[in-house]
Amino acid sequence: MGAANELLARVKAQGAIPRHVAIIMDGNGRWARERMLPRPVGHREGMKSVREVVEAALEAGLEVLSLFAFSQENWQRPALEVSALMSLLEEYIAKEARELDEQGVRVVFLGDLDRLGPAQRRAVDGVMAQTAHNAKLVLNLFISYGSRAELVRAARLLAEDVAAGKLSPAQVDERALSERLFTAGCPDPDLLIRTSGEMRISNFLLWQLAYTELYISPVLWPDFGRAELYKAILDFQSRDRRFGRVSA
Ligand code: IPE
Ligand code: IPE
Ligand code: MG
Repeated sequence: MGAANELLARVKAQGAIPRHVAIIMDGNGRWARERMLPRPVGHREGMKSVREVVEAALEAGLEVLSLFAFSQENWQRPALEVSALMSLLEEYIAKEARELDEQGVRVVFLGDLDRLGPAQRRAVDGVMAQTAHNAKLVLNLFISYGSRAELVRAARLLAEDVAAGKLSPAQVDERALSERLFTAGCPDPDLLIRTSGEMRISNFLLWQLAYTELYISPVLWPDFGRAELYKAILDFQSRDRRFGRVSA
């Protein structure tokens, strides 16, 4: 706690806070395996880390926190693990919705939500509606999400608009496409964190990460907390973002 507060003070003293931090929350299974526990125990422990990074994001003053919680590919995991994750999703919403709302967090779920079961879908729609008016922090939760599918969907929406005569082919530009992504209206991530040391993107935000700074942490997700988030932001604050130009 003390160490995290010290890191937060350093983050604030550094000045520029990233507007948008995205996290690939990885390593729950390995955390459980190291303790000879079933994988869902790791996922449950990971929920505590979600709580901590949301608190930390509020304290640091981020505008957007994006969390990759369940990928389109994760549907291929064993049925027992998938159903454990889906129950945890419901439990997370039931436990946290009120506090998130009170803290001024707008909760947004992004992904192919049609694949969720009716109970999860109700919970997801409910918390989105309940918190829609909030403006302190946007919490993007990606579930049943794949970036290629998101891009294909955007392409299809563009094609439909062109076919309907609402858009000419010449009007298909970067803006027109990004407006048809789930993340429409949201600034691109400034910083992407992946936990558990894995050096890959795993079909997350392929378009939006074009100029995002990457930070790979060896820490497994259930061990990731406030201090770890602040360490990542401090590292980000030391980077020279050139966007293809030369430094000032
Ligand atoms: C991340 O942890 C959570 C999800 C992908 C749902 P993993 O379950 O991928 O954990 P590892 O990578 O097997 O350790
Ligand atoms: C990426 O983690 C998806 C989420 C964190 C939700 P995975 O564990 O599914 O990714 P791979 O299989 O290691 O690429
Ligand atoms: Mg993993």
